[in-house]
Amino acid sequence: MNSELVIKDLRVSIEDKEILKGVNLTVKPGSIHAIMGPNGSGKSTLLRLILGELRPDSGEVIAGSRLQIAYFDQQRELLDPDKTVRENIGEGSDFVEVRGRSRHVVGYLKDFLFPPERIDSPVRILSGGERNRLLLARLFTRPANMLVLDEPTNDLDVDTLELLEDLLADYDGTLLIVSHDRSFLDNLVTSTIIFEGDGRVGEYVGGYDDWLRQRRPPPEPGLRKAATAPAVRPPPPEPARRKLGYAERRELESLPRRIETLETEQRRLEEDAGRAEFYQQEKPAITAALTRLEALNEELQQAYRRWEELELKEG
Ligand SMILES: Nc1ncnc2c1ncn2[C@@H]1O[C@H](COP(=O)(O)OP(=O)(O)O)[C@@H](O)[C@H]1O
Ligand SMILES: [Mg+2]
Repeated sequence: MNSELVIKDLRVSIEDKEILKGVNLTVKPGSIHAIMGPNGSGKSTLLRLILGELRPDSGEVIAGSRLQIAYFDQQRELLDPDKTVRENIGEGSDFVEVRGRSRHVVGYLKDFLFPPERIDSPVRILSGGERNRLLLARLFTRPANMLVLDEPTNDLDVDTLELLEDLLADYDGTLLIVSHDRSFLDNLVTSTIIFEGDGRVGEYVGGYDDWLRQRRPPPEPGLRKAATAPAVRPPPPEPARRKLGYAERRELESLPRRIETLETEQRRLEEDAGRAEFYQQEKPAITAALTRLEALNEELQQAYRRWEELELKEG
């Protein structure tokens, strides 16, 4: 049941340089975190610790028993240049499993802007942008409930950037995304993890802009030009920390409609299933309807829980 990730007092030095000095984080299932900080501050190192590729000097990374991580690393996840696009993604099969659905590679790759005539080309002749798209396509076929992306937006063309943003917004697992692209992240994330220098890491609710607001509240406009303003103004009060990030608020707003849609479908299917003719259909049709009904119940339970959770958090 548990797909949480907990990081406890993680410390690591590389060649006598302290990269992480006691980092604590809890990554809840379904949450979306931006990881930001200057080059060389330790972002990729933190990801490698999470992935178990690097051992800390002290502290722990505790992965829940159900946690399954897939990793996007532009430097290292190599495509086989002599194999075709189709072979690189399907690994011999023409079907891939994406979010519990079996998809034909041709249709799936179309989503990633590969025309059917392109998919039997060897990867060798693809442009850099096409290779990025293929890597992304492959990432979403990995069985995982957490995606870790290290600078996924580097070298992406605008179309692929938009595609990636949509895919991430629709993704229902947990996301950890290292990126310098603030506009990309601000629409998406529930929290921002910032390398603040000196091996310290802070976590803030919302996107980078929220972080800026939390750190440096703007002066009140009325005070700025007032002749009576005291020479030394008291520091402005800390603004209340936003309880819901942008993405969460958007989610909360969309939940009632989503629940209504699900309930309508559920009602319709239940009515169908209650009719005498229902069991006179072909067996696959019966199975499909009953499976869908079961999935709907589960989705609804999840939606109710999430609604409650967000309502409570908003206070
Ligand atoms: N294999 C390595 N050998 C030596 N130094 C390294 C190695 N990996 C990382 N570092 C150092 O650790 C620091 C953090 O690197 P990294 O985690 O890659 O930063 P970021 O991803 O934030 O740019 C850097 O100062 C880098 O020089
Ligand atoms: Mg890096």
